[in-house]
Amino acid sequence: MKKYAITIAGGGSTFTPGMILMLMDNLDRFPIRAIKLYDNDKERQDKIGNAFDIFMRERHPDIEFIHTLDPEEAFTDIDFVMAQIRVGKYEMRSKDEKIPPKYGVIGQETCGPGGIAYGLRSIGGVIEILDYMEKYSPDAWMLNYSNPAAIVAEATRRLRPDSKIINICDMPIDLMYKMADMVGLSHWKDLDFSYYGLNHFGWFTDIRDQEGNDLMPQIKEHVSKNGFADGIGTAQHLDESWVETFTKAKDVYALDPETIPNTYLKYYLYPDFVMEHTDIKHTRVDEVKEGREKEVFGLCNTITERGTAEGIDFEIDAHASYIVDLAIALAENTKEVFLLIVPNDGAISNFDPTAMVEVPCIVDKTGYKKICQGKIPQFQKGMMEEQVSVEKLAVEAWIEGSYQKLWQALTLSKTVPSAKVAKLILDDLINANKDYWPELK
Ligand code: NAD
Ligand code: G6P
Ligand code: MN
Repeated sequence: MKKYAITIAGGGSTFTPGMILMLMDNLDRFPIRAIKLYDNDKERQDKIGNAFDIFMRERHPDIEFIHTLDPEEAFTDIDFVMAQIRVGKYEMRSKDEKIPPKYGVIGQETCGPGGIAYGLRSIGGVIEILDYMEKYSPDAWMLNYSNPAAIVAEATRRLRPDSKIINICDMPIDLMYKMADMVGLSHWKDLDFSYYGLNHFGWFTDIRDQEGNDLMPQIKEHVSKNGFADGIGTAQHLDESWVETFTKAKDVYALDPETIPNTYLKYYLYPDFVMEHTDIKHTRVDEVKEGREKEVFGLCNTITERGTAEGIDFEIDAHASYIVDLAIALAENTKEVFLLIVPNDGAISNFDPTAMVEVPCIVDKTGYKKICQGKIPQFQKGMMEEQVSVEKLAVEAWIEGSYQKLWQALTLSKTVPSAKVAKLILDDLINANKDYWPELK
């Protein structure tokens, strides 16, 4: 079997240890010759890199492991880039979450004004990594988790249309684990599913077991009462605020009992509820810093201080398994079905062909083939047309340096009540993001 080399871009990410461990867990079907971590923050990446120097030397001495800030070293002679960068890090995520609520608007990592702000930071960073990959390893694939995936995907469609990049999200997979559990199955792969939408903005329309039996009635029954709560969690989304989100899905479901919604729709459909449950002094990013970040970097420090990784284990979860499975599908031609963020081009027949949509795709050595989802109903179409316009305007604003288009993007977001409020938030965000955004005129 061929052996593969992987670069994890955003090597200092809290998700890096999980991804390395997942790769090590799959060596029998996906042999690895090298893992390289790449980041532009030495201090942050070294914490994980130094610990994994020890971990890999002890457990997998035959696999080359490096962590570097040098793009040439990081991106030469590789087969895949797994990207998970956060331009501006948690410091800027905090502003995305805390600025809009000053004006009565939800503050969220990927939705509403915070998501747009993050988008305008991410575009340049992701394009830079994609260009490094194409320069040093032109045949490689980039699998991108870097958020906000919807805006990043639209930007790469516009700016690098021929690049081998696939944008993905782990949320629907976590939901599928929970739905599998609701019907007594154990893995998301036990489900056959239909789904359409934009990233963090979609709906399941059909769920069946492998024998073709309709599981929707049982799942609807559960979701109508409990949302996605009380299902099995994967190791990833366990904090209190996530439990609240999973529970709230029952009210999102109530709006269209024909479909099963993505949890992120709560920010668009129940922003009043979200605001009532927001503490502007302590938002999700604070929970992440006190939880996941502390835990991951704490374990890394312990390894480095002790000089051994013996007895230390990191969580490996659906987030890591999804991206590794996708790499394996591309490398080994497995033809499994994955939800990917791809150009619509008819997959949703009554929707903008140029939109980047999230639909199931069959993945093989050549890339992916979309599975058509047909026509979508007026309610979803209306919401998606508004939201896709927000995403497209944000990307155009970045490309053209246009204040006007960014103001339009914020105004059009369902989370923002008026052009006046949009302008107040925008001016505040411009000030906060001056080190990261292009100059807007
Ligand atoms: P993190 O802040 O812990 O890690 C991100 C790393 O990226 C940091 O080490 C940072 O220094 C690095 N970085 C920033 N800009 C860079 C650049 N230009 N080049 C190279 N490295 C750069 O963040 P996290 O919480 O672990 O999340 C990582 C990313 O994964 C985020 O974008 C997050 O939104 C995303 N994510 C996506 C999904 C999904 O469903 N698509 C799921 C989980 C996380
Ligand atoms: C889900 C989403 C991701 C998002 C993450 C936030 O997994 O699919 O796109 O980045 O949640 O998680 P966090 O724990 O950082 O708030
Ligand atoms: Mn996501």
